Amino acid sequence: MKIGVLFVCLGNICRSPMAEAIFRNLVEAQGKTDQFDIDSAGTGDWHIGDGPHQGTVQKLAEHNISTDGMFSRQIKQEDYDRFDYIVCMDDSNIKNALPMLGHDESTKVFRLLDLIKDPKDVPDPYFTGDFEETYQLCLEGCKALLQKIESDVRSHS
Ligand code: 4NP
Repeated sequence: MKIGVLFVCLGNICRSPMAEAIFRNLVEAQGKTDQFDIDSAGTGDWHIGDGPHQGTVQKLAEHNISTDGMFSRQIKQEDYDRFDYIVCMDDSNIKNALPMLGHDESTKVFRLLDLIKDPKDVPDPYFTGDFEETYQLCLEGCKALLQKIESDVRSHS
């Protein structure tokens, strides 16, 4: 069984594709691509079928990370069973995603930056324009997420 990781934001064009691509890259660097099912989705429907925002594409390109083949989709109820970790960018994503996943609450659903020393939302660069901040916070969060998953795997084996 693969370990399912779904990143969730509002539009699925800025933050969650950034986190998805960074996490995929970290997993690949460890030679663990086959062990994971990684995806991202938005709670909103405005950008379904669109590629990532130009700011996300450019920031990832600076780090030699490609966004080819990535397209926005909306979160759906079946995602709850498919994924083990449903990693949201901010509190409103959690509030919006839970009913769409058919749940009132769930330990599977948490914020990416709940895993770091100073828990917080990932600010939305669609409004702030600061894609460097998004990259740095997603990188810090994704490193912490991979460590958490490795520790979860160890404690279940
Ligand atoms: P994201 O940013 O949730 O990080 O993808 C947004 C993208 C689009 C919109 C809002 C946030 N929008 O309102 O279209």
